Amino acid sequence: MPGGTGPPTRQGVVISRSLRHAGAAPVTRITLPSSLVIAALSRALDLAEGVPQGHALRTCWIGMALAEALELPAPVRHDLYYSLLLKDAGCSATAARVTQWLGADDRAAKRALKTSRWSSGRHAVWDTLAQARPDATLPARAWQWARLGRRSTEVSRELAEVRCARGAETVRHLGWTDPAAEAVLMLDEHWDGSGAPMGLRGETIPLLSRLTLLAQTVELFWQAGGPAAARTAAQRRRGKWLDPELVDVLLAISRPADFWANLATIDGPGAVSPLDPYPVQIDGHSPEVLLRVARVFAGVVDAKSPWTSHHSSRTAAYARACARVMGYAPARRDRLTVAALLHDIGTLGVSNLILDKPGRLTAVETDSMRAHTTLTHQILAPLSPLVDIADLASAHHERLDGTGYHRGLRGVALTEECTVLAVADVFGAVTSARPHRAAMTPEQALDLMAPEVGQGLGVEAYEALCTVVAAGGPAFT
Ligand SMILES: [Fe+2]
Ligand SMILES: [Fe+2]
Repeated sequence: MPGGTGPPTRQGVVISRSLRHAGAAPVTRITLPSSLVIAALSRALDLAEGVPQGHALRTCWIGMALAEALELPAPVRHDLYYSLLLKDAGCSATAARVTQWLGADDRAAKRALKTSRWSSGRHAVWDTLAQARPDATLPARAWQWARLGRRSTEVSRELAEVRCARGAETVRHLGWTDPAAEAVLMLDEHWDGSGAPMGLRGETIPLLSRLTLLAQTVELFWQAGGPAAARTAAQRRRGKWLDPELVDVLLAISRPADFWANLATIDGPGAVSPLDPYPVQIDGHSPEVLLRVARVFAGVVDAKSPWTSHHSSRTAAYARACARVMGYAPARRDRLTVAALLHDIGTLGVSNLILDKPGRLTAVETDSMRAHTTLTHQILAPLSPLVDIADLASAHHERLDGTGYHRGLRGVALTEECTVLAVADVFGAVTSARPHRAAMTPEQALDLMAPEVGQGLGVEAYEALCTVVAAGGPAFT
């Protein structure tokens, strides 16, 4: 990656030079390094994988420690950094399929699959069922296992193909690290040729993929059983899944207890951000890169369920079009668009048993579903120095009359942008099919929303939406 590392960082935030235009007041430009932005958003991928928060960050730290020990050049470390953080970018695309296949919470199943008896597909499925469906009786679990067993290898391979291809495409869309995309594509290839999707073996597997798989394995087993479990898992897979020379390096650098003590301190995006030698500077005032990143992650969110496959992008398109009708300046429109693209990022933490359920949700399921706005706020909060969207994005289910969630805000506590995002979100949802109902036409949707206007929904925002709909909707180009 050409270019310098930009201005010095302070806790990951770059406050770049003040720009003084002729006759204008100085403008302080706030930028964040891409290393921090992607590290923050990687926590959404942890939610989708059902792994403990910070898994991607700690995987990144382990992989970068290996890179340092191997004295890899800076451009390679730059690409490795994004491969490590974005290795699970394709995970949401298999969530619905995993739920369908195992009849279990996709996040619990994925977590179990990662640490199950790895040397046998049938045993791995049994372990996964045991962990992901603890409520099922033994005969019920055995029946399901027998039914799945015959196809377990085939389905596992299909899932790996989808996950890796989708993940690679996602990373490529970021536009600054193609080698990381290739590494994600081949993440599930194994040293002995037993992996997927291509069955590559040995050094024909890209180095970044081999490093990422090793770092991921070590983090997962450290999380489950501490340093001894992590080292044992690496040793057992040495020469099978994992590159033996890389395992030897890992075993050498992880012998001192300090290695594990330092790993345990990785508690936020700022802890790994300085490890990228060539971060792209993302500018809040010229948000082309920020919008691209938001679109990429909106794609990850929308891939989680077939019922919401374009929801984030449609909501953003309608919110942006409403903002244009309401005369928002470009910077304000861009901020709203980024918030709209990411407003449901917290749904990556909701099981597809709930998202795709054809019937009414139980009270417990409703609570789980409603938790997504809190998760959205947690994930987006670290971006606030650059673009203050956490409050806006996480308020999309708030209503002016105080009947919304998760804070129960009302009236002036909600900005106008919140009301625009709310109408765009409702409109986007009701004009798309859901498991329990068909899609409404735009006119039916506006009629449905009308009684709420002036109560929970904003008058100006609704009128802008009517104008957009009358004009044929926003351009989806
Ligand atoms: Fe939502
Ligand atoms: Fe939504």
